[in-house]
Amino acid sequence: MKDGVIADFDMTEKMIRKFIQKAHGRSALISPRIIICVPYGLTQVERKAVRESALSAGAREVFLIEEPMAAAIGAGIDIREPQGNLVVDIGGGTTEIGVVSLGGLVLSKSIRVAGDKIDQAIIDYVKRKYNLLIGERSAEEIKIGIGTAMPLDEELTMIVNGRDQVEGLLSSIELTSEDAREAMRDPLKEIGEALRAVLEVMPPDLAGDIVNHGIILTGGGALIRQLDKFLAELVKIPVYVAEEPLLAVAKGTGRALEEIDLLQELFEHE
Ligand SMILES: Nc1ncnc2c1ncn2[C@@H]1O[C@H](COP(=O)(O)OP(=O)(O)OP(=O)(O)O)[C@@H](O)[C@H]1O
Ligand SMILES: [Mg+2]
Repeated sequence: MKDGVIADFDMTEKMIRKFIQKAHGRSALISPRIIICVPYGLTQVERKAVRESALSAGAREVFLIEEPMAAAIGAGIDIREPQGNLVVDIGGGTTEIGVVSLGGLVLSKSIRVAGDKIDQAIIDYVKRKYNLLIGERSAEEIKIGIGTAMPLDEELTMIVNGRDQVEGLLSSIELTSEDAREAMRDPLKEIGEALRAVLEVMPPDLAGDIVNHGIILTGGGALIRQLDKFLAELVKIPVYVAEEPLLAVAKGTGRALEEIDLLQELFEHE
């Protein structure tokens, strides 16, 4: 899979077969019902490929659910109510902003700015400011260890190893959360602007719901320190981080399968 699209059909089928074995134990000759979460905006051809890979891996029935919907269910939202809810799912490759109401996705926007771009911004910053080359893994450790979207009461620090660009030798520096904040500023601003753009085109009734109930953050990016506060200040609406944001999409997808009979009409299915 690459960016939510199947790049290698045979491999994907094998992977799903493994998952079925794992879920049912080796003895099982069961052909299960399967639900698969796909990125919003996948084309019909791409959806068909996802569905067929699951069928040829032994699924009896296949349901597809779109990621912003799964994120909303996983964040504990009752998607069937008329009230609008806005979920921002910040993953590795994409940030997906979705507005759900009455079991449907009313509005959605996806941008290719998320965890990976934030890591890259940290690499660029450390190179520019300290002449130090660091890898993607270090950048992610910095983001998780000391990254923050707003100033902290007590700043954090971290020792970072890399290669000095001038001397070519291994070297280490001490980075502060202030550094990390400056490094991450541009990608975080882009996420904020995408959110603002969605709010600007929102039907007034739904906008009222969002103002009253707030915005929910899911995905690993939701764990960035003070991101809720940063976005809340930008759009002037309360922002909350979902419980276990990293698991929201997976939990929501699972819950949708448990309630599939109730939710049947929401899913594409043939
Ligand atoms: N504590 C944390 N603080 C900041 N970022 C984190 C934290 N934990 C994980 N992340 C980041 O979250 C991202 C992964 O999140 P998630 O699992 O939601 O993405 P994904 O669903 O795999 O990606 P996509 O939705 O783009 O397909 C990675 O960029 C990771 O570095
Ligand atoms: Mg995701």
